[in-house]
Amino acid sequence: MTEHTTTSTDATPDTSARPLRVNAWNGWDPLRHVIVGRAEGTVVQAPEPAVRRDYPEDGFPLGTYGPMPEDMVAEAGEQLDNFAEMLRRRGIRVDRPTPIDFNQQVTTPEWSQDSMFGCMPPRDILLTVGNEVLEATMSYRSRWHEYLAYRPVLQNLFDGDENMRWEAAPKPRLTDASYNTKFWDTYNDLPTEEQLARVRDYDLVLTEAEPLFDAADVARFGKDLFVQLSFVTNRSGYQWLKRHFPDHRVHAVTSTNTHPLHIDATWVPLRPGLVLHCGERLADAELMEFFRLNDWEIIEAVQPASWDHPPKLSFCSPWLAGNMLNIDENTLCIEEKEVRLSEQLSSYGFEIVPVPFRAVGPFGGGLHCATVDIERDGGLQDYFP
Ligand code: ARG
Repeated sequence: MTEHTTTSTDATPDTSARPLRVNAWNGWDPLRHVIVGRAEGTVVQAPEPAVRRDYPEDGFPLGTYGPMPEDMVAEAGEQLDNFAEMLRRRGIRVDRPTPIDFNQQVTTPEWSQDSMFGCMPPRDILLTVGNEVLEATMSYRSRWHEYLAYRPVLQNLFDGDENMRWEAAPKPRLTDASYNTKFWDTYNDLPTEEQLARVRDYDLVLTEAEPLFDAADVARFGKDLFVQLSFVTNRSGYQWLKRHFPDHRVHAVTSTNTHPLHIDATWVPLRPGLVLHCGERLADAELMEFFRLNDWEIIEAVQPASWDHPPKLSFCSPWLAGNMLNIDENTLCIEEKEVRLSEQLSSYGFEIVPVPFRAVGPFGGGLHCATVDIERDGGLQDYFP
């Protein structure tokens, strides 16, 4: 738990005495408690039907796998630790997952996979809605067992908060029937128009054999949850979420992104009435219309600081720039090099907290990906009445 104790030379508030309370309905209410991921143990995954890593220039050509280079782990680990410390100094309680040996073969009775992945990014696996923490199905074999790294934190929440609802979506089978197993043979060579048509028609790597979703494809706006259909979330996963949250309006959205993977660098809640839209993506006409009809302002994000970013061994795009963490509805953590985006959002009245986080990109994401909110003040509200 919060290993930090207050000493006379240390300004970090001691949050350990505060009762545990799972409560978060949106991405902007004042943040009290959060999980921050870890870089330790992360593995460049062995190939599997859902995903192929192919980094011939960085020492991992297709078919090879193994631990991320030590210097990269150290640098990312330091940035994650510093970020966690900064949040603690602001009085926010911070939990961290417990890495296990991710560089091992894992099996179920139906398949085996040569490696796992890691415990970044936590946003992909855990979804907090009100007093519930939901473990997503995930859709990569290498991430099937990832929940194990979060069980100590979840058990502690369960023991400490008698109102917490701890849920796990049905563990998926992930047999070959769950995948278009030839998808990656051709997809990246298709013309962009064709890729976009496939995205629009939701004809991608996952079949509809069973419900599959990653938590990071869900954007929370109080009573409304927006679920992006993507490389890791299928229609059946959306259906499952819709039935699981009967008191919410759950919307399926597609994007104009050739590689849809997690909604949180694309359609980013900022505060009631304000959402950030990143790039040429999610111009889902219906979604835009829904927000406009309800008098929300859609900010088109400025271009990211660099198109070379993220660097080595990364599967994220430069639009990771918009992957920010709200401390409250006036305060935003933004990667320190994204100066133009910071200026753009300052002009809307946000106080910006710049956070060095570049080295974390290759471990799967930015400031939003790297976190899961456990407690924010505030209750369930309807922002689209
Ligand atoms: N796939 C997104 C991009 O490259 C990054 C989003 C990552 N989000 C996450 N929760 N892992 O733009």
